[in-house]
Amino acid sequence: MSASTSLKPVLPPDIKAMKGNTPVVVLTAYTTPVARLVDAHCDVVLVGDSLGMVIHGLPSTIGVTMEMMILHGRAVVRGAKKAMPVIDMPFGSYEENPAQAFRNASRLMAETGAPAVKLEGGVHMAETIAFLTARGVPVMAHIGLTPQAVNTLGGYKVVGRGEEAEKLMEDARAVEAAGAFSVVLEKVPEGLAARVTQALTIPTIGIGAGVRCDGQVLVVDDMLGLFTDFRPKFVKRYAELGRSADEAIAAYAADVRARAFPAPEHAFPDVLPAKAPK
Ligand code: KIV
Repeated sequence: MSASTSLKPVLPPDIKAMKGNTPVVVLTAYTTPVARLVDAHCDVVLVGDSLGMVIHGLPSTIGVTMEMMILHGRAVVRGAKKAMPVIDMPFGSYEENPAQAFRNASRLMAETGAPAVKLEGGVHMAETIAFLTARGVPVMAHIGLTPQAVNTLGGYKVVGRGEEAEKLMEDARAVEAAGAFSVVLEKVPEGLAARVTQALTIPTIGIGAGVRCDGQVLVVDDMLGLFTDFRPKFVKRYAELGRSADEAIAAYAADVRARAFPAPEHAFPDVLPAKAPK
């Protein structure tokens, strides 16, 4: 049984228990109405810092702040009754030292009500993950392409080909040993992602990492066709809501210009029609 079909809200141990069992279904959400839609079908609703790009029009996730994550995190928690909300820790909120990470992770949890956070990094973040998990902060790790490090990586590249493969395996083992309850593998070659999945006892959640991960995550605006600035190869479009919205807005504008909207049924008469006698 998937965690989302149980009646009680999903928590980190439920996700961990899905390893080798049922695929873990994850989508991002940033607002209450979308969180409600995701909640009906998914195990985890991720308040990703991708919101900086898809909602706020930033060029990368680097400019995302704690305040943005808290605002959207609260909105998502209101809409998620069953699926587990996980909040991304924004760039600059956890890298300094474990104490800084605990201060900000506990603030994200306390001010949003989400039971877990996600942060980027492998071996170099293991000490921080261990510090957080020992103090009641469940952590979803994120390795492979870590978008907050886009400037050091030199772009949104596949991570783990050739000599990088062993480093990625070390990252995976380190975050597991540190106590992460699951790990996102982003833009990792599919064979390597399968090896990591076999080697770990925690679920791997793939995005551009092939079908042999324990679960999958996508940015909801990508798969609904709402974010169209660019389209990574790993995105499958399940709807074209951007196109539908464009057509609807064009039809509205044409109606207004032609004085075809509002029609009489959308207006309020000056005098209410008399009620028919009984
Ligand atoms: O920010 C985000 O939405 C993410 C997912 C793409 C994994 O980190």
